[in-house]
Amino acid sequence: MKMRTKLVSILSIAVFAAPLTSYSAQGNAENGKKIYDKRCVWCHGEGGAGDGPAAERVNPAPRDFTSGMYKIKTTPFDEVSPKDEDIFRMISDGMPDSSMPPWKDMLSEPERWDLVAYVKKFAGLENPKKELDFSKQIKTSAESIERGKKLFLDRCTECHGEAGKGVAIKKLKDDLGFRTWPRNFTKPWAFRASNDPKDIFARMSVGIPGTQMPSFADPASKKKLTDEERWDVANYVSSLADSTKEVKAENTVVKASRIEGELPSDPSDPKWKEAEPSSFFLVPQIIGQERFFTPSNNSITSRAYYNDKDISILIEWDDRTASVPGDPKAAEIAEGEVSPDAVAVQFPVTIPLEMEKPYFGHGDAAWPVNIWYWNTGQDGVAQVTKLLNATGFAKKDERDPAKAGLATKGVYDKGTWRVVMKRPLVTAEKDKDIQFVEGRFTPIAFAAWDGTNGEKGSKHTMTTWYWILLKPKAGMSVYFIPLLVAGLVVGAELLWLASARKKKSS
Ligand code: HEC
Ligand code: HEC
Repeated sequence: MKMRTKLVSILSIAVFAAPLTSYSAQGNAENGKKIYDKRCVWCHGEGGAGDGPAAERVNPAPRDFTSGMYKIKTTPFDEVSPKDEDIFRMISDGMPDSSMPPWKDMLSEPERWDLVAYVKKFAGLENPKKELDFSKQIKTSAESIERGKKLFLDRCTECHGEAGKGVAIKKLKDDLGFRTWPRNFTKPWAFRASNDPKDIFARMSVGIPGTQMPSFADPASKKKLTDEERWDVANYVSSLADSTKEVKAENTVVKASRIEGELPSDPSDPKWKEAEPSSFFLVPQIIGQERFFTPSNNSITSRAYYNDKDISILIEWDDRTASVPGDPKAAEIAEGEVSPDAVAVQFPVTIPLEMEKPYFGHGDAAWPVNIWYWNTGQDGVAQVTKLLNATGFAKKDERDPAKAGLATKGVYDKGTWRVVMKRPLVTAEKDKDIQFVEGRFTPIAFAAWDGTNGEKGSKHTMTTWYWILLKPKAGMSVYFIPLLVAGLVVGAELLWLASARKKKSS
């Protein structure tokens, strides 16, 4: 409420000031309303107060347009109004890693300008009097990045962490009282705007209104940075992008290379660096009983090796907290109780080979899946490995992982978990365990739990089905059964949820 009163007073001053900026386009607010009432009300609400029917379920909350507050703008920190181009951009491109969708494929350019005109009306926003000056941009170079790094370590790490992965150092809340997470700079696709130095410079100069991300151009701030310094930091932050974490649409297969000799069973083994990474989006599980919409982990990366005896799978994911129950630091950051961080991979027990034998008997989900599960364990004493078989919704069977030869090991380092799962290619219980065959595409799915984020049991993030392929020796044929993907995705996702739910507090 306090913030709003302040805004209104600034706005009333702004009314008397003539706009400096000229606009490339002026929308029609009347037409904007028609589109808004059809497309935007669900989240932003009929009156623009951010209180649509879906609002309750999303974090961050949909913008309350009556507040006149915009997060991504290119006008200075002491200028309330964004440029029309700023609003147009967010409507067109959406705000990644939030529920704000991109509209550029759904709505024409004039329609999006009409929306800008309408949305501004909720707070009676005037055109801005000032805009950011990008003219002193320092081109990126090794020297600039080095200077930027020093400033970054001094100014940014208290929230974004030393490695820039946004590890939770303290509990941050936005002005509405909701939990916020500082951005992870190694994942450029998860930026609300982008990791182009110009965008980073703008965020540092303006801050992100409504959140604890401050302005570093505000002369009243002890942490103020000069224009040049902000460009150096922007170049450094931009350099932190890690392409191995990038999720590519065409990437649907974890490709295991064959090596001679021992497979790496330690997550820190340098051999992993040479294995080809495949990254997938983690999405919140929203079908099961305990829905949740505020995941903190958003992608997972896997690599694999095999030899004549075993397969070794490395699973890596950024997690802002090493959630080990009993750890006081984790308790301080957590929402409520701390559950262990966990990860699981899932396979069907047998790979269907022919379409003539339908995999799903009579439409029920009575086919078994194999689940390999790891968690941090209690009090950091011993990590936990579990081997589970799920048969339909009704039954989950916990088996002895040692008997199947399944071994796991996890290591947490500067905001990233690395877990290795290793097992013989073939096991004694062929009717219970997936048997790996060189050259065959085997369905694989992942799930992760962030125990500091209240994730346990059916509350977790997951991927859909992908494939793991034991890359064959030259000349060997490859079996591929793409037709089954659709069926597997639907059936197995349900099973996945059912089995996860039963795990309860594991
Ligand atoms: C599914 C929910 C949802 C729908 C539908 C939706 N939005 Fe949003 N919108 C959000 C959320 C959530 C945010 C805030 C994201 C954040 O704070 O990081 C947001 C933010 C915005 C912003 C603020 C940008 C800024 O810089 O602060 C604008 C403008 C916006 N939405 C316009 C629209 C328009 C126009 C439509 C309809 C064409 C629309 N939204 C539909 C969820 C939605
Ligand atoms: C007091 C905590 C805090 C400090 C200090 C801080 N940030 Fe942030 N930062 C945040 C939070 C919180 C967010 C996420 C805001 C949101 O919810 O959109 C954020 C988001 C960002 C983004 C968002 C990019 C995008 O498009 O999504 C950038 C860039 C950024 N910070 C850069 C920096 C840099 C560079 C520094 C140091 C000069 C810094 N921050 C210091 C808390 C902080």
